[in-house]
Amino acid sequence: MARAADSGLQRPDDHLIVLFGATGDLAKRKLIPGLFRLAKARLMPRQFRIIGTAPPSFAMTTEEFRAFALEAVHTFDHSAFDQAEWDSFCSKISFAPAELGDEDALRDEVAKARAEIGTGVRLLHHLAVPPFAFASMVELLGVAELTNNARVVCEKPFGTDLHSAQELNRMLRSHFDESQIFRIDHFLGKESVDNVLALRFANGLFEPMWNRDNVSYIQIDVPEKISIEGRAAFFEETGAFRDMVVTHLFQVLGVVAMEPPVSLDAKPLRDEMVKVFESMLPLDVSQVVRGQYEGYRDEPGVSPYSQAETFVALKCEIDNWRWKGVPFYLRTGKSLAQSRQVITIGFREPVMRIFPGDVGVRSRRGNKLVIDFADPGSIDLHFFAKLPGPQMRLGNAEMTFSYEDSFSSSHNLQGYEQLILNAMIGNQALFTRSDGIERLWEISQPLLNAPPPVEMYEPGSWGPDAVDELISPFHWFLPE
Ligand code: BG6
Repeated sequence: MARAADSGLQRPDDHLIVLFGATGDLAKRKLIPGLFRLAKARLMPRQFRIIGTAPPSFAMTTEEFRAFALEAVHTFDHSAFDQAEWDSFCSKISFAPAELGDEDALRDEVAKARAEIGTGVRLLHHLAVPPFAFASMVELLGVAELTNNARVVCEKPFGTDLHSAQELNRMLRSHFDESQIFRIDHFLGKESVDNVLALRFANGLFEPMWNRDNVSYIQIDVPEKISIEGRAAFFEETGAFRDMVVTHLFQVLGVVAMEPPVSLDAKPLRDEMVKVFESMLPLDVSQVVRGQYEGYRDEPGVSPYSQAETFVALKCEIDNWRWKGVPFYLRTGKSLAQSRQVITIGFREPVMRIFPGDVGVRSRRGNKLVIDFADPGSIDLHFFAKLPGPQMRLGNAEMTFSYEDSFSSSHNLQGYEQLILNAMIGNQALFTRSDGIERLWEISQPLLNAPPPVEMYEPGSWGPDAVDELISPFHWFLPE
């Protein structure tokens, strides 16, 4: 394994990256800009090629795909643009259409790149395709004989329910060994989510508090201001629960709730995540609020009778020694008042209230650890302090750690970049494992079988009113 000369970080072996769904939204927003940022950080392999692919009906020429990639970088990479870097990166990009039964163009393009770089070059297939297209892409890789010396990155959501996830796992394993399979969840690559591991396990301060004796509830709250942004087909099929909860929010919950792993290697870390999921109780549908923003049904491509949820909030429970009886509240949705990504640990109240005016559980402030995991991220400890003056009165106080103000961000990678780099290096620690994903679908099945009707909410609000009842007697930390 080479080391990147200027960063001291591991640099992957030479790679040929095949990007399925290359003309899609994810490729444009995250994957292409992310690969370019890795190249700028000297973290791409010394020799690499990127082959974009999509079904013939979405085909582009290589020139068109390069222009598409440049636009993606201009729109979604907010770091300084470097023309020389771009020219070098762009020269390594090409496009070849492919679908099951029509694999020749892709096979030829791979053969051409292999001839240029060397036949031993490793393949990384990134399947950035919606759930319904997934199985045929895996089949295509088998038919086109592109599975040797290859790894495959599988986008979320991984399946749409327990049965389809099991089927996908079965199909993947018929072409790949588990060590070649990287089920991606980009929230696990976020610096501030990984920092939860550091906060908990690199300090003696927090871990003794991190349990049912001291914590009264936990919130994982990911409101988004954006609407579905033209992704009607995806949303009608997927909805907010499958898009955000089964994947991102449950993974964040796994990191927050896990037992200390014996090391940060893939097996022990993923064992602990899976143990959390195994201890989760099946979702109680009466503790779920599904919402839909007003106007969603008027979006092009959306059914006027759609019951797809653009918002979901729920309570879930972990039935183990550490967390029994501590409710975990999760909330996410589109077209909400703010875009935030926040974990709130609410601590138990002191056993006696001795301060005049002490508001205890009714307070939105005080007695909380708040982890903002949106890049660049911060951690705030909210507590009560005596207000200056002759009387003993309480005021809200905060201690803040801000990533941006505390550390240089020169090695800062965004979620996707971190994970694509790890996939090229072969480190599965931050990728989800088949048993974990299947368990998450299993506990979700009661909701998938009998989803409550969607409740309407106004765009720009915090979702349907029922979310306040759901969390009562506590409060959502947001809006601050
Ligand atoms: C994606 C979801 O996986 O994550 C989107 O499909 C969501 O609906 C996005 O907006 C949020 O991720 P980030 O990192 O952009 O906040």
